[in-house]
Amino acid sequence: MTWRLLVLGGACLLLLGVGGQCKEQRNRRTVSFHRTQQFGNHGKVLSRPERDTIASPSPTFTACTLRLTPLEHRVLDQNTHETGFHGDDGSSFTVTWVGDGTGVILVLSTVSAPLDSFFEGGSSRLYRSADYGKSFHDVSHLINNTFIRKEFGLLAGPGNSQQVILTADTPVLDNPGGVIFTSTDAGVSFKSVQLPFHPAQPITFHFLNPEYLVVISIDGGLWLSLDFGAVWTKVHEGTQSFTWGSGITLFFSFSPKGTVEADRRGELLLKRTEDLGKTFTTVIHSNLFSFGYVGGFLFTSVIETLGAPRVIYVSSDQGDHFKQGPASLRLHRAVTGGHRS
Ligand SMILES: *[C@@H]1O[C@H](CO)[C@@H](O)[C@H](O)[C@H]1NC(C)=O
Repeated sequence: MTWRLLVLGGACLLLLGVGGQCKEQRNRRTVSFHRTQQFGNHGKVLSRPERDTIASPSPTFTACTLRLTPLEHRVLDQNTHETGFHGDDGSSFTVTWVGDGTGVILVLSTVSAPLDSFFEGGSSRLYRSADYGKSFHDVSHLINNTFIRKEFGLLAGPGNSQQVILTADTPVLDNPGGVIFTSTDAGVSFKSVQLPFHPAQPITFHFLNPEYLVVISIDGGLWLSLDFGAVWTKVHEGTQSFTWGSGITLFFSFSPKGTVEADRRGELLLKRTEDLGKTFTTVIHSNLFSFGYVGGFLFTSVIETLGAPRVIYVSSDQGDHFKQGPASLRLHRAVTGGHRS
C-alpha cells in the first residue's frame, strides 16, 4: 500500500490521506491522519514484520483543503514535492514540523491493533526530512524500531528548540515505568530514557523553556523534569489536570484523598506552584469543577450548590484574587454541561 505526503515549502502543509480522513490538530505544527484499515480480517492482530509490502497502484485520496489566493497557489505549485511512502502499510500518520525554519519534518506511521488484543509484533516507522519535505528517510533504527504510542504523538519543543519527544508503547504490567526517546538535534539522534512512572498523557513542554516538562502519571502523580526528561520528580499526588500560567507558574487540580470521580462531582482543589514544585499555594479550596488559563486570566468553574449552575470565577493575578464571572458565562457553562476545559 502507498500513502503520499504533499508538502508546501514554508510554513504550510497539505496532507492527502489514502481512503481515510484528516483528523485532530494537536498543535499548529502537528497533524494526524488515519486511513480505514483495508484488511478484511478485523479483530486479528496486525503486525508487519516484513519491511516491504506491495504498493497498491491507484489509491483514492481524500484531501484536506485550504482556501488559497492565486498568489499562494503559484507559490504552492513551485514548492510542492510529493513523496510516495511505498510499502508503508501504516494506518495512522502523524506529521510534525521541528523547530522554526529548520526544514525538518518528522512523520510517524503506526499500525493500530484492536484494543483488546495483546500487542505483539506491532511497529511504527519514523521518517525524517531535512529539506522541507522534498525527501524523507526512514530513521526508525534511531529508536531501535520501537513501537511508539501514536496518541502521545510526535512532540516538538517550543520555538527553535530542535527538541523532540516520542513515547514508547510500554506495557504497564511488568514494567516499572514508561520509556521516552528524546532528541536535542531535531531528530538526527535519539536517546532513550526510562521513566520512573507510566505517563497517562503526552508530555507537555513549557511554552518558552524546552527543558521544563510536565506530565501526569496513570496513578495521578504530577511529574516534573527540569532537564528535558533526564531526571523526573513527583511533586504532587491525586492530580487531575494542569496548565502553565504566566512565567513558570504551574496550576493543577487535584482530589485530596483519592476521591473517586472527584472531577465529575466538582470536588477538586486548585493549587499553584511558582518555583517548579518546591512550594505550593492553594488557590481554590473546594468544589472546583474545572479551570483554564487563557490570555493572562485564570478561569475556574466552581460548584457552589449541588444541582445549580456552576459559577465562574476569574483571576487576573494568578489566583490571588477572584472575581465572579458574568452570568452569561455561568449560563453557558450550565448549557454546555460537563465538558472540562
Ligand atoms: C538501541 O539499542 C542499542 C543496543 O541495545 C543501544 O546501545 C542504544 O542505546 C539504543 N538506542 C536507543 C535510542 O535506545
